[in-house]
Amino acid sequence: MSVIERIKEKARRDLKRIVLPEGDEPRTVAAAAAVRDGGLARPILLGDAKAVAAAAREQGADIGGIDIVDPANSPKAAEYAAALYELRRAKGVSEEEAARLAADPMYYGIMMVKLGDADGLVSGAVHTTGDMLRPALQIIKTRPGMKVVSSSFLMDCPNKALGDDGLLVYADCVVVPCPTAEELAHIAVAAADTARTLCGVAEPRVALLSFSTKGSAKHALVEKVQQAVEIAHALAPELLLDGEMQLDAALIPEIGASKAKGSPVAGRANVLVFPDLQAGNIGYKITQRIGGAECFAVLQGLAKPCNDLSRGCSVEDIVNTVCITA
Ligand code: ACO
Repeated sequence: MSVIERIKEKARRDLKRIVLPEGDEPRTVAAAAAVRDGGLARPILLGDAKAVAAAAREQGADIGGIDIVDPANSPKAAEYAAALYELRRAKGVSEEEAARLAADPMYYGIMMVKLGDADGLVSGAVHTTGDMLRPALQIIKTRPGMKVVSSSFLMDCPNKALGDDGLLVYADCVVVPCPTAEELAHIAVAAADTARTLCGVAEPRVALLSFSTKGSAKHALVEKVQQAVEIAHALAPELLLDGEMQLDAALIPEIGASKAKGSPVAGRANVLVFPDLQAGNIGYKITQRIGGAECFAVLQGLAKPCNDLSRGCSVEDIVNTVCITA
């Protein structure tokens, strides 16, 4: 069973309420109907009921039985505005500004998750990654013990000799442009947790990637990765984690054995941690476009699950992201 099928099975076993702030966006409406039909989650569409119905007609989707909430006319808006004001007043948000934000579907959806009226959120078919991430970072915040919110990409590769039967987890490819060594260490630990809890990987084996393997090159960029390895060992001593190492040393047993002799990870890594966002974002797209991998993104380190879509997403991408969030 593929990783996404396993995640869908899990979602079916325990139906979660997933709020979709872009509720009048046609692909989102069609995805909500598919999620309901598949018994995958309980979707909540945010938006004006007439606009949501029009999007459903455009898609030929039946939205009967799906909750639709209009943030601009919701009885909860005042409660959300007050809570938002309390959360953000120290950052200079006024009561008027909080009321205005609470009527915005993106912030309204985030407040639903924050206050437990929804279990998770999926957005980004219309909003940019930054517009989706900022309210989540400001309001949902990191989970206890986690220094930074980041992302993992689940890469389902056609070459089943790689990782765990073709599954590789890549981090971070979406959020943190230039992580410090400490942030990189937290990203590595979070990615191992994603591999274990979301993908069911029994033994995450984490490689921190570089253009150098075990001191083969000397450079400040290499030193940052070496420091991150040390910090990650202190954060999670039980984790199989090693670096710095090149991609081939991480994945190919013979190269791992020659370049990083004795490493518990080299040659058989299933979690790859990139040194910065340029490398991670380019790396996942190469694996997808040239390597033919299917890929699924998930945010990690947030106190509650919220996930981003690509603006070019399909209905199926939204359904998959709802299941990952659930
Ligand atoms: N983890 C936790 N908190 C964070 C993080 C983080 N990674 N980044 C910012 N924050 C917090 C800040 O501390 C701040 O909190 P506060 O307001 O309570 O003090 C709040 O979030 C907002 O911070 P800003 O500095 O105003 O936010 P910024 O403008 O830096 O935006 C963002 C953060 C959106 C994540 C930015 O780093 C970014 O644009 N990242 C790249 C996103 C992107 O374009 N990715 C590639 C495309 S996606 C793809 O290809 C699939």
